[in-house]
Amino acid sequence: MDCCFMFGRRSQHAVEGDDGEHSVKVFSYNELRKATQDFSGANKIGEGGFGSVFRGMLKDGTLIAVKVLSATSRQGVREFLTELTAISDIKHENLVTLVGCCAEGSHRILVYNYLEKNSLSQTLLGSGYSSIQFNWRARVKIAVGVARGLAFLHEEIRPHIIHRDIKASNILLDKDLTPKISDFGLARLLPANATHVSTRVAGTLGYLAPEYAIRGQVTKKSDIYSYGVLLLEIVSGRCNTNTRLPCEDQFLLEKVSSTYLQAFIDNLNTKWCQLHTEATIP
Ligand SMILES: Nc1ncnc2c1ncn2[C@@H]1O[C@H](COP(=O)(O)OP(=O)(O)OP(=O)(O)O)[C@@H](O)[C@H]1O
Ligand SMILES: [Mg+2]
Repeated sequence: MDCCFMFGRRSQHAVEGDDGEHSVKVFSYNELRKATQDFSGANKIGEGGFGSVFRGMLKDGTLIAVKVLSATSRQGVREFLTELTAISDIKHENLVTLVGCCAEGSHRILVYNYLEKNSLSQTLLGSGYSSIQFNWRARVKIAVGVARGLAFLHEEIRPHIIHRDIKASNILLDKDLTPKISDFGLARLLPANATHVSTRVAGTLGYLAPEYAIRGQVTKKSDIYSYGVLLLEIVSGRCNTNTRLPCEDQFLLEKVSSTYLQAFIDNLNTKWCQLHTEATIP
C-alpha cells in the first residue's frame, strides 16, 4: 500500500507545513522490496556515494529507480519527508522526477522515474560498449538541456537550488536522449559528517570550481564551473580525468587550458558550423 504524505491538516499523516498543496508519495518497504525483487543483484543498476540504486517495477508496470540511502538513518522521518517534499514538487523536462520515498524504520529510500538510457558517464564517457550514437545534434541537445535544467534550479525555484555535484553520472538520458539532471537538492539529506563525496565539500574531484574546493564557498558559479567541465566532456567525448593515459594527457582541463585550447576551439567552431549547416538543410 502506498500513501501520500501531505502538508496541512487535511491528511491523516499531516504535519505542520506552509500550505496544503505539497505531497510526496510514501512507499512501504515491502512494496519496494517486491518492486526490485528483494533488491536483487540482478536489478542493481549502480552504486554512488549515497548508496545503491536498483531498477524496479511497480504493480501498475511503471519502471522506477530505487536509491537506497546509506548514511541517513539518523535523520528523523519527519525531517526526511520535509526535505523531500520540497524536491518532489520540482518538475522540469530536464530534471529527474522524484516519484516518492520510503522512510520506514531506519530505511531511507528515494524512488525516481527510471531513465532507460542510463547516465552520460556510462554511455558517452564509459569504456564499455554503448549502442547510442552521440552525433553533434544529440550532443547539442544534451548540452542545452542540462543548461536549461540548471538555469531552472538557479533562477526559477524558490529558494534557488545550487546543485553542488554537476557531473556526467548525474546526467541521465531518456529514450529520446533528453538529458535529466539527477540528485538535485540532496545535499541536506546527508548528515554533515557523512558527506558521500570525494572531498570535504559536496562535489566531485575534477568538476570542482577552485573557490569551492579551496574555501568551500558555494555559489551558482561553482555549478556553472562544473557545467563547463561537463561541456568539455560532452564535446570531446572523454572523461575529464583518465589516469590510464600518459601523464600529459590525463587531465582534460589541463589540455584545453594549454596550447591545445586554440585548436580545441577551432575544432569546436568547425563542428558547430557543420551542425548549423545540417540543421538548415530542408
Ligand atoms: N533514475 C535513474 N534511472 C536510471 N538509472 C539511474 C537512475 N538514478 C541513478 N541511476 C544509475 O545509478 C548510478 C548510480 O547513481 P548515484 O546517483 O547513486 O551515483 P553517482 O551519480 O554515480 O554518484 P554520486 O553518488 O556521487 O552522485 C547512475 O550512474 C546511473 O547509472
Ligand atoms: Mg548521482
